[in-house]
Amino acid sequence: MLDSDRLDCYAVMGNPIGHSKSPMIHRLFAGQFKDNIDYTAIQVDPGGFAQAVEQFRATGGLGLNVTVPFKLEAYRLADLHTDLAEKAQAANTLRFRSDGRIEAHNTDGLGLVRDLARLLDIEWHPHVERCPETLFRGKSVLILGAGGAVRGVLAPVLDCAPDSVVIANRTVVRAKELELLFGGPPVSACGFHELVGRRFDIVINGTSASLQGELPPLPHDLFNAGAFAYDMMYGSRPTPFMEWAQQNGAAHTSDGLGMLVEQAAESYFFWRGKRPETAAVLAVLRARQ
Ligand code: ATR
Repeated sequence: MLDSDRLDCYAVMGNPIGHSKSPMIHRLFAGQFKDNIDYTAIQVDPGGFAQAVEQFRATGGLGLNVTVPFKLEAYRLADLHTDLAEKAQAANTLRFRSDGRIEAHNTDGLGLVRDLARLLDIEWHPHVERCPETLFRGKSVLILGAGGAVRGVLAPVLDCAPDSVVIANRTVVRAKELELLFGGPPVSACGFHELVGRRFDIVINGTSASLQGELPPLPHDLFNAGAFAYDMMYGSRPTPFMEWAQQNGAAHTSDGLGMLVEQAAESYFFWRGKRPETAAVLAVLRARQ
């Protein structure tokens, strides 16, 4: 077989995984570089993650994306961790190194802040790692939720130096744990009822409430003038959070489809050292929604 015929194998593992858009995204990325890759979605049974990873590696796999519910296990399984994986204590990307070691990374937060930069019209060249200072400067950020999704994005949000980051969660103690983990100010934690009378510039929904068609109990005057409401979830129509935000004074709303594409691009870069162009891929996904 010619070297140019060789397929580099990647996959996403999770449960459920049937509706994953990652295979399509990565095939579109590969098309941009004429890379020969095979990218599949693998459903893994609870308790079977480590074995599935080993099996994939043994058959020549080069890297994995990891999604719910295996991100913590992926972090623990790895021998090496990037700074972002370390801070999140969770991994959505694994790379199988030629020395046999597994390296874990977390690209979720970079995906979120890159998408927010695009939506806020702030220039951020794909080859520049650091977030532009203007992205969150002087801004108050509210993050709803304190589960794995929020833990995964906090470090890159803080790297963008917002004035304040409030984490509000139904179970307040989980938000307090994150406040402690991320070293206090500018991070603080509270319950939803403590949001009464407070206003924010950027509100990010990181709860899984939208999945059940639900909404956290939020006060109606949460948004500053010009505020942005971002739901990390996405679907074929606006999420309940986006609809609520539109009705309650948010100037802009977005779902998390752009974050999905951006985090995938960061994974592609981690595996292959090449930065895919994301706008065209997002446009394809939107057209198919
Ligand atoms: P994930 O990895 O998707 O973050 P998770 O760790 O189970 O999943 O966290 C889900 C988050 O959504 C939590 O913050 C959860 O609140 P609790 O910590 O109180 O459980 C939040 N959540 C889920 N359903 C919710 C709802 N109907 N209203 C408000 N918050 C909800």
